[in-house]
Amino acid sequence: MTAISQFQDRMLSLGLARVSEAAALASAKLVGRGDEKAADQAAVDAMRTQLNMLDIKGRVVIGEGERDEAPMLYIGEEVGTGTGPEVDIALDPLEGTTLTAKDFPNALTVIAMAPRGSMLHAPDVYMDKLAIGPGFASDTVTMDMSPSDRVRALAKAKGCAPSDITVCVLERPRHEDMIEDIRSTGAAIRLIMDGDVAGVIHCAEAALTGIDMYMGSGGAPEGVLAASALKCMGGQIYGKLLFRNEDEIARARRAGIEDLDRVYTRDEMVTGDVIFAATGVTDGSIVKGIRTEPGWVTTETLLMRSKTGSLRRMTYRSPL
Ligand code: FBP
Repeated sequence: MTAISQFQDRMLSLGLARVSEAAALASAKLVGRGDEKAADQAAVDAMRTQLNMLDIKGRVVIGEGERDEAPMLYIGEEVGTGTGPEVDIALDPLEGTTLTAKDFPNALTVIAMAPRGSMLHAPDVYMDKLAIGPGFASDTVTMDMSPSDRVRALAKAKGCAPSDITVCVLERPRHEDMIEDIRSTGAAIRLIMDGDVAGVIHCAEAALTGIDMYMGSGGAPEGVLAASALKCMGGQIYGKLLFRNEDEIARARRAGIEDLDRVYTRDEMVTGDVIFAATGVTDGSIVKGIRTEPGWVTTETLLMRSKTGSLRRMTYRSPL
């Protein structure tokens, strides 16, 4: 049997939710404490401990960084008990370290798992991203279009005016021209301070979140995590790696990337069945953040499988 046919996504999904919950519980103690590093470290420690309890032969393909810069959950680290299916793991123990430190919304812990060899080994560089929700023909919007043309194309496909479209964008100086072009159509923009995995996921639940499209550059590892989520929820994402210097190109080469100009589709970033879990750290529009009350702590986790398109919002309550 091949590794892919052995992928017990149904059995592994609850284990994955536990991993995500554990990271959120650990970082929750650091919400609003102004210490990004401590919050991230707590999430990393907890995620690694819990991940190593799973019966998998896991390998981190999207992690905390290259081996020489990240002592834990580095790219290439073997995780799990070593018995079980061979899987690739993409993770971000705390997506939104600054959001957590400042107690801003939409900080998440995120992890995705797929059969070995089915996830893009995205280097730690920027990726230009474009995402929309489910129900649209492929190439309704493309990377070749200008931001304003994308808004008009999506509005046409939705049967609404460009001014009825809301685009989510990371608030960064590098996005100023793009923001101006989007605004020229009359579309609304939801600017986010951080956390573009959540930004992309918002598109898949447009009726709930009010966001129709995501665009702009952010971390390439986060792009693969977002592609994993959209593979479960439906929706399209395109990603193109961006390189600022020779060191970043060398990182891509080390990750096995040959075509530096390639535009990846969702199913090219994640080629196999994938399971995805994200737990809220601070309150957000996708999941609630951690709640504590005397004697109890409660988390909410989004748990999804691409094979079935199933989506669970799981509440976990534990004595303190
Ligand atoms: P961290 O949680 O590692 O701080 O990342 C948050 C984030 O906003 C990502 O969601 C996004 O992809 C990336 O940082 C954007 O990078 P930059 O802050 O350099 O624009």
